[in-house]
Amino acid sequence: MTGAQRRSYEMFFSRYSLPFEEKKLDFSRVFGNNNRTVVEIGFGMGIATAQIAEADRNSNYLGIEVHKPGIGKLLWEIERRNISNIRIIEHDAVEALEEMLGDGSTDGFHIFFPDPWRKKRHHKRRLIQKPFTSALAAKLKPGGYVYMVTDWAEYGDWALVELSSTPGLINAYPSGFAEPQTWRPKTKFEEKGLLKNREIRELLFRKEG
Ligand SMILES: C[S@@+](CC[C@H](N)C(=O)[O-])C[C@H]1O[C@@H](n2cnc3c(N)ncnc32)[C@H](O)[C@@H]1O
Repeated sequence: MTGAQRRSYEMFFSRYSLPFEEKKLDFSRVFGNNNRTVVEIGFGMGIATAQIAEADRNSNYLGIEVHKPGIGKLLWEIERRNISNIRIIEHDAVEALEEMLGDGSTDGFHIFFPDPWRKKRHHKRRLIQKPFTSALAAKLKPGGYVYMVTDWAEYGDWALVELSSTPGLINAYPSGFAEPQTWRPKTKFEEKGLLKNREIRELLFRKEG
């Protein structure tokens, strides 16, 4: 953590964070409104998260991350931009999702540049695979979405197979990968991937119903 990240973590964490609990969240109580709520898994340094929330103040954003420097950075961005529609859970996203999100509660999931776990023997650690994709589907409202982006082409192909074969999820782009969504700013990892000429693959699935 840089000194600035530590300071913002110490000053603002209690203001914008939710403790991990084995208890389902009531988003209308957490955010004090009935706006839609989108959950981001693994926001990294959180700059894209802050940009999205700032541009869309009529939605709520809940970020789940384990990387303290990134949490410190996002807290700073929240304060700097005077954003009131972001909350943070510092915890493993798989467990937080299972324990804290109610079935049919969530309007969308953002999963931008999840760790690709490139080596074959590490593929089992990849986030985007069943049964986790089934858990995502269960937490979504009908019509809610999963938006995943990766700069690792083979992980994109893998995710397309996993999401396409998850009951209840339907590809919004039946021919395969999604168009880049115009509202999505570039993330820090994306910038790095682009410098290495990596191909960006986007996937957008909706919960049926
Ligand atoms: C490759 S980085 C991408 C960060 C950011 N989305 C971006 O595009 O710049 C993946 C992030 O996911 C987080 N992460 C990985 N597994 C996680 C988990 N199980 N729960 C919460 N965060 C996780 C890591 O800490 C890391 O910050």
